[in-house]
Amino acid sequence: MIQKSTIDRIMEATDIVEVIGEFVQLKKRGANYVGLSPFANERTPSFTVSPAKGIFKDFSSGKGGSVVTFLMELEKFSYPEALKWLAKKYGIEVEETVEAVENREEENHRESLMIVTGYAAKFFHEALLETEEGKSIGLSYFKERGFTSDTITKFELGYSPDQWEAFTGRALQDGYQQEFLEESGLSVKRDNGSLYDRYRGRVMFPIHSFTGRVIAFGGRTLKSDKNVPKYVNSPESEIYHKSNVLYGLYFAKKAIREEDNCFLVEGYADVLSVHQAGIENVVASSGTSLTVEQIRLIGRFTKNITILYDGDAAGIKASLRGLDMILEEGLNVKVVLFPDGHDPDSYVRTFGTNGFKKHIEDNKKDFILYKTDILLKEAGTDPIKKADVIREIVESVAKIPDSIKASVFIKECSYLLQIDERALLSELNKMRLAKAKKDSQQMISRHVPVDETLLEEPPVREAKDDASQEKEIIRLLLLYGNRVIDWDGIANTYIGPFMIAELSDVEFENSTCKSFIDIYRKEVENGVLPEEQHFIHYPDKEIVDLTVTLIATKYTLSENWYEMHKILVPDEQVNMKATILGAIFHLKKQKVGKILETLRSELQKTLGEADQEILLNQYMHMKRVEKTISDYLGSVILK
Ligand code: UTP
Ligand code: MN
Repeated sequence: MIQKSTIDRIMEATDIVEVIGEFVQLKKRGANYVGLSPFANERTPSFTVSPAKGIFKDFSSGKGGSVVTFLMELEKFSYPEALKWLAKKYGIEVEETVEAVENREEENHRESLMIVTGYAAKFFHEALLETEEGKSIGLSYFKERGFTSDTITKFELGYSPDQWEAFTGRALQDGYQQEFLEESGLSVKRDNGSLYDRYRGRVMFPIHSFTGRVIAFGGRTLKSDKNVPKYVNSPESEIYHKSNVLYGLYFAKKAIREEDNCFLVEGYADVLSVHQAGIENVVASSGTSLTVEQIRLIGRFTKNITILYDGDAAGIKASLRGLDMILEEGLNVKVVLFPDGHDPDSYVRTFGTNGFKKHIEDNKKDFILYKTDILLKEAGTDPIKKADVIREIVESVAKIPDSIKASVFIKECSYLLQIDERALLSELNKMRLAKAKKDSQQMISRHVPVDETLLEEPPVREAKDDASQEKEIIRLLLLYGNRVIDWDGIANTYIGPFMIAELSDVEFENSTCKSFIDIYRKEVENGVLPEEQHFIHYPDKEIVDLTVTLIATKYTLSENWYEMHKILVPDEQVNMKATILGAIFHLKKQKVGKILETLRSELQKTLGEADQEILLNQYMHMKRVEKTISDYLGSVILK
């Protein structure tokens, strides 16, 4: 067991923002930091870290706790493992009491597997540096390829002796169990039940999880025999899911964040050479085509991916369609080709760091333009093929969530394709509309009526729905903010300032919506009624994008909303009072709903009786507020 005094010292040294910031891109907001949840796939940040309280809370997955909880959740560390990780990071010596020296059998399954892979990495690394065979075969190969001792140490490169049981025999002798040796893929079972080494006579590339633990291996043969597979990789296991892992990410993530860009290469050797050249923001998908999970992993650190391809890669065209999913995830993709016969590894070794950087600067091409180029060349002068190209390109552009970015691409593609921009735009709008219809239908069918029982499970909340009510407010401000109110009871004021006043107690969550409201409020306070144009030409791109999208979509948002509530309103302008108040109170109701949700989960945790009672009172109170709002909404809308 780790001693209490050690735990105290670890906790004192630990900076929660720094630790979590290694895994999640955090932005300061007020006293807290927010970022995208590492536990759920979301576009609107709901993951919050409070340095003052020393806690994090993830509103998407509901997870929350201390920095130790965070590491346990994210990396499936055991409690002592998480503490040791922190101790290592902050250079604190861990004192353990004797009776609890790690007992392999007691560790959970995943942990056991990671202990085995960690042990194996050490075995292979020592075999490389300390055995005759390793030095003369493995190490000399790495040196010949130009890898320095620093690189070899940092990436824990290794060598597997060219024997049947060198590793397995030693591991069994050291007390590691057959079960884990086999499951981790390090050993293979013969028909007679005995085990032999999977990797023999290969140089070894350990694959690290993004918290830096070895979870798998790639082993490269040094023979030129065509019948021998070039690489042997670890099979899938409980700790290694190929599609979720990027080779080199652990060593690259800091640089990726700093450079705000991630280079994606194909092989282990490419990662090592480029990294060694001082360009550390580089990862490889290692022999699989890129997966959505891998893209999201990168997306936690940057929104920019630059793909570095071998010039002769035959699979370039086949991979084009796959790359659309990067656009769908809202990331920017650039592509760089290398001249024939070169891959990033050989290029950087031949031309050095600066030559490599210059090549990238001179040759990087935006993915869509690159794709247009390739498909066009292929289609030649065939008009039917060209029509297909146009459709395919517009399909790609339609996947870009940012509408301003999309329209820039349309412009450039119209030039490349020699097609009128308006024709492309109308094609794009058709696709967008079809997609929006599909999405909104899904949204309606997902809507769960509110149950009145006290501790009901909260209805499934989509991150997307979350901001839609806030956006509805902004849409109304943009469209009707400068109209004069003439409703019974309220008159002689404009809709804009009225809404702003009514919403003064509401905290907008979506950061762009929040900035929009702040800008609007400031203008109103200065005695100005801001108009559409003010926002369309605003210096902040996100504000412009939001404005443009909302003005462009006109009624679709509120239509959905009325539909969800099974209320038929032919035109929102017929009853402006219902439209405006409906939107305001619906947003308030949503906020109250969230408070209730938090209270509910608080209540479900076992607390002292006194705490329970306070919480319950708060809960009942908010429940009444919710009911009042619901009643009011009903009466306003139906009138
Ligand atoms: P490459 O053949 O380009 O390998 O495959 P490389 O890493 O550049 O190796 P060198 O430069 O010849 O030493 C690219 C990647 O594809 C996967 C590996 O991850 C490799 O790094 N791969 C390749 C396999 O998994 N199995 C194979 O048989 C070949
Ligand atoms: Mn190579």
